Amino acid sequence: MAQISIIVAITRNNAIGRSGDLLFHISEDLKQFKAVTMGHPIIMGRKTFESFPNGALPGRRNIVITRQGDYNAENIEIVNSLQAAVDAVKDTDEAFVIGGGEIYRQALPLCSRLYLTEIDTEITDADTFFPEINCNEWEITEQSDIKQDPRSGVQFRFTCLSRK
Ligand SMILES: NC(=O)c1ccc[n+]([C@@H]2O[C@H](COP(=O)([O-])OP(=O)(O)OC[C@H]3O[C@@H](n4cnc5c(N)ncnc54)[C@H](OP(=O)(O)O)[C@@H]3O)[C@@H](O)[C@H]2O)c1
Repeated sequence: MAQISIIVAITRNNAIGRSGDLLFHISEDLKQFKAVTMGHPIIMGRKTFESFPNGALPGRRNIVITRQGDYNAENIEIVNSLQAAVDAVKDTDEAFVIGGGEIYRQALPLCSRLYLTEIDTEITDADTFFPEINCNEWEITEQSDIKQDPRSGVQFRFTCLSRK
């Protein structure tokens, strides 16, 4: 059985998206996302897939969850439920759920590791949020120093948590 991990960039008030896009495009975060997920299957909702400017992300199996029976796009695997996505990755060591809000909500109970980019701000006009993380269920295994995005000026850090 694969370990199911979640990777997400999250503000202090759990905001993750607005109008189908990320809240911040932090270059160091995008590099970290690539480094962590490269070579591993990535599981995502159809809306997150459609937010990518250049289609499927290279070097990874892109597994897209949709209820649409006739959905199609290049270089992706299509499944009709989260469980079907989990079944599709059962022979790999670690697979990453990469969003968005609907899929995170369903996947959080199944996942054993969280890779957070904690962005030190509140975004009140976001329209997509990560579910509440119950701190009693998780322990921090790794945490970076606090960093600053040179473009937006926002502070952030990488935190990895494992389910207790
Ligand atoms: N901050 C971050 O790290 C991060 C990461 C990823 C995404 N985001 C943001 O999150 C937002 C997108 O999230 P979202 O919640 O709107 O959409 P989403 O979770 O990406 O996709 C939702 C879609 O997934 C399909 N789906 C969901 N549950 C399903 C199920 N049980 N069975 C079958 N299909 C299912 C449906 O597709 P159909 O409608 O086709 O049936 C649904 O419309 C964007 O703003 C994006 O930028 C942020």
